[in-house]
Amino acid sequence: MRWYKIPGIQNTDQPFIKKVKAGNKTVCLIGYEGSFYALSAVCPHAGADLSNGWCNNQKLICPFHRYSYDLRTGKGSGGQNDYISSFPVKVKDDIIYIGINTFWERIKQAFK
Ligand code: FES
Repeated sequence: MRWYKIPGIQNTDQPFIKKVKAGNKTVCLIGYEGSFYALSAVCPHAGADLSNGWCNNQKLICPFHRYSYDLRTGKGSGGQNDYISSFPVKVKDDIIYIGINTFWERIKQAFK
């Protein structure tokens, strides 16, 4: 896994959703209730930009049709039968990093 430094984000307790680049991925970096989460920024339903959504009850809510995704796993709520990718986040020396598996790591996981 490769860790990408995310510049310009303060380590704060204030809630936020910000679209950032981690390698070649566009990711929603979310600060919510004292924790950080990183999820895909594109809604699988109809392509909305999830960084324009909001959080409620540990879920990211899509601004278009209100589908919702678990902040920790990316799993869609009951009945949606979908998910968005989730990525690990770490904070080191007050700097936020998002972990992205390399192409070969994703291939290996697919054949496990
Ligand atoms: S585009 Fe996200 S719920 Fe429809």
